[in-house]
Amino acid sequence: MADLIPKERYISREFLDLEMERLWPRVWQVACREEEIPTAGDYVEYVIGDQSILVVRRADGGIGAYYNACLHRGTQLAAGAGSFADGRIKCSYHGWCYDLSGCVTSVPDREEFPGLPADMRLGPQRVDTWGGFVFVNMDPDCEPLLEFLDPIPKLLSDYRLDEMRLRAYQTLVLPANWKAALDAFNEGYHVQGAHPQILPWTDDVSIAYEQYDRHARYGRLENARRQLRPSPRLDLDEFDEGEILAGLVAGLGGAFLKDEKAAVEELRAAGLPPGTMLGAYQERRMKLLTDRGFDTSGFTPERMTSAEDVYWFPNMVGPIYPGSALLFRMRPNGLDPDSCLKDVWVLEWRPPGDERPMPERRFYEDWRAKTWDPVSTQDYENLVKVQIGMHSRGFEGLRLNQRQESNIAHMHRVLDRYLA
Ligand code: FES
Ligand SMILES: [Fe+2]
Repeated sequence: MADLIPKERYISREFLDLEMERLWPRVWQVACREEEIPTAGDYVEYVIGDQSILVVRRADGGIGAYYNACLHRGTQLAAGAGSFADGRIKCSYHGWCYDLSGCVTSVPDREEFPGLPADMRLGPQRVDTWGGFVFVNMDPDCEPLLEFLDPIPKLLSDYRLDEMRLRAYQTLVLPANWKAALDAFNEGYHVQGAHPQILPWTDDVSIAYEQYDRHARYGRLENARRQLRPSPRLDLDEFDEGEILAGLVAGLGGAFLKDEKAAVEELRAAGLPPGTMLGAYQERRMKLLTDRGFDTSGFTPERMTSAEDVYWFPNMVGPIYPGSALLFRMRPNGLDPDSCLKDVWVLEWRPPGDERPMPERRFYEDWRAKTWDPVSTQDYENLVKVQIGMHSRGFEGLRLNQRQESNIAHMHRVLDRYLA
């Protein structure tokens, strides 16, 4: 029998403490999107466990990131997101001021601090960007970002994530370990158990899994042609391709969903010969994007309906399509191993000239405060039960399916490299 993944990794405070000491301070992690801080003085607070980092658009247009703690007596300098409109970060307690590069610029009654160094600055973080994401790393000696991300930038280059913009931004608290929440989106094995209603239009069996040095992905990889067919588990001889296509398209999401749904209806009404509907739709979708002014030259029509489901170690996962992406970021919620924050980011290419403002960031302190779509609800209801069940004296550890849950096993192996 395969080795058990010890349950303590998901439920013990000691393990979370170890992650806080050895994992999070040493990895590149997504702090925010670049479009969240377009103008000098704009900031976003990035919270990971009990650590808070301020990401700031500097006066020179670059991005700075600093520990969010005043050098005087530690007061948190800012929370959430906003703007240091006058170009200085002022502590609300005794009024010490910092410029947007984190340097101390004024200390009231400075002469009464005889030993104060002249060049004090907020603890800097390494910062870099890729794909429109702002990454931070607390380790001054870390490897370059692109090295850390390899091969994700290569895999995703056609999707031009840097040209995407946030369409929706939601954060919810789930009563589960951050890794348990991640696992739920890093395998297709649970589809037949948790989401049986989508099997008539989801072939869950032909999903392939692929692991890299740190990261992983799954989906219909290169040569696996997507077909409109129900899950082979159902053993259905008769099925309606149009219905399967409608289900597939509903899952694509993004800005053009209305047009895409209309295209599906048109194709369904057209009475196409069997086996040709998917190809016809792929051509339609490509034309739809091209007509809107988007460059689709990196894609074949076939890739119009295939997501890249990527997992970027340690905590980003989600499907990416030509034109839109759904990304989830999981983080420990403070120092509670039984709670996590899940950010849900919907990204999309914008037609040229369409500069909409940032969407409102919505926060759900209790995931039950909102009615989610049926599939997400099934996932969240399971996560509640997973975390409770893992505490049972009768449960020792996770028994992973060696193919369909291989991304999860890989995540634990990579995690061990940091914790060792
Ligand atoms: S704690 Fe910030 S000025 Fe005193
Ligand atoms: Fe799910």
